[in-house]
Amino acid sequence: MPSVISLSRPSWVRGGPRVIKQIPGPRARRIIERDERVISPSYTRADPLVGEEGWGVYVRDVDGNVFLDLSSGMFVLNYGYSHPALVRAVQRQAARLTHFAGTDFYYELQVELAEELVSLAPGSFEKRVFFANSGTEAVEAAFKCARWHTRRPRMIAFAGAFHGRTFGAMSLSSSSATHRRFFEPLVPGVSFAPFPYCYRCQFGQSYPGCDFLCFEYLRSSLATTTPPEEVAAVITEPIQGNAGYIIPPPEFYPMLKELCEEHGWLLIADEIQTGLGRTGKMFAMEHWRVAPDIICLAKALAGGMVPMGATVARADVMDWSPGAHASTFGGNLLACAAALAGLKVLKRQKLVERAEKLGRLALARLQEMAEKSKLVGEVRGKGLLLAVELVKDRERKQPAVEERDAVVRKALNRGVIVFRGGRSTIRIAPPLIISRKELELGLDLFGRALEEVERAC
Ligand SMILES: Cc1ncc(COP(=O)(O)O)c(C=O)c1O
Repeated sequence: MPSVISLSRPSWVRGGPRVIKQIPGPRARRIIERDERVISPSYTRADPLVGEEGWGVYVRDVDGNVFLDLSSGMFVLNYGYSHPALVRAVQRQAARLTHFAGTDFYYELQVELAEELVSLAPGSFEKRVFFANSGTEAVEAAFKCARWHTRRPRMIAFAGAFHGRTFGAMSLSSSSATHRRFFEPLVPGVSFAPFPYCYRCQFGQSYPGCDFLCFEYLRSSLATTTPPEEVAAVITEPIQGNAGYIIPPPEFYPMLKELCEEHGWLLIADEIQTGLGRTGKMFAMEHWRVAPDIICLAKALAGGMVPMGATVARADVMDWSPGAHASTFGGNLLACAAALAGLKVLKRQKLVERAEKLGRLALARLQEMAEKSKLVGEVRGKGLLLAVELVKDRERKQPAVEERDAVVRKALNRGVIVFRGGRSTIRIAPPLIISRKELELGLDLFGRALEEVERAC
């Protein structure tokens, strides 16, 4: 008999993180062999971890190894694994009504969730919400909405950004040639501007005192490759996620917003990885005090219970006509129930403030590690979105790719999940419900993995 979902702490959590069988263990190996026969090989599975059960910040694999997940299941589980409030909400809703054609009829849960999101999103203007099933769909909706509203064909995106893998979102992304190879032609009319990756400034400058040559490059492209009156919108991840949590300086988004206003461009913030409290603000763009015209959400929105994406836009911008865009399952009842329960948890447990406080502790702890380690080039973070970039030597900043992979693997072998990002960065983004003790334990284990690799270098 399969076990029913447990709302109380399961006994396997008690012993904390532990690796009792080599990863992958025998059961994991058998499942991976079957997987390789029938599952698309397009996924990038770097580590042979086969999950079976999760609770709070812990996940257990099929061989009984227990991991403290400092990646929140790839930045989805902000409320942790199987948060009882979300599990109950989904169970209750499943017993009442799972599906009702939201594209053709109405239901209150969708309205309730949209009301919540428009009140949380920055900007004192009226807003509307389009519901989707994933991040890439939320971006597609933003892209289409921007074209529809402005009647302009072009988009500006940033180098290194990742917005998804459907054709529109892929056309706006430039984080990896693998995402694009053999898929051309993509949606035309996208120009890429340099992103302020100050640790590796493409213009050889250092912040502060750099005159923002990256921004000037964008400005000068308007006279050469990108006629500004043809641009519908600029899309940005406030903090680039897959690129390794690249955080622009404080001046950047206010300057960008001004440029948008000058030329009548919409500003789209892809908050799929950064939104809903992760960075110590409800939306990361709030760190720059900028209200985007459109915000894309997904990942943590329904807490990993049910897939969900959302596009929140200024009401006067989301003015497309009936039939212009829709989705059968977007904003389905189970996803809405999970998302509403999640937002209640976020408020009740003050998770945004908690991310800010715990994030400061974690950043300080990682900076201590950096001081003792020759491998760490830069530590950066906002709230519980943290990154450690590894380099072969601090002067030349040559990316330490193998060393980074080794740290990730050694951390796994010590029972801690962290995630790769960029060329040689490790991303740490624990569930926002993590306790201080669990965070310290996770970082201690991570630090030991780093020391182990450093000793072997
Ligand atoms: C910033 C950002 N945008 C969009 C996406 C695409 O989301 P999905 O995989 O749900 O389509 C991701 C996924 O990693 C992301 O991190």
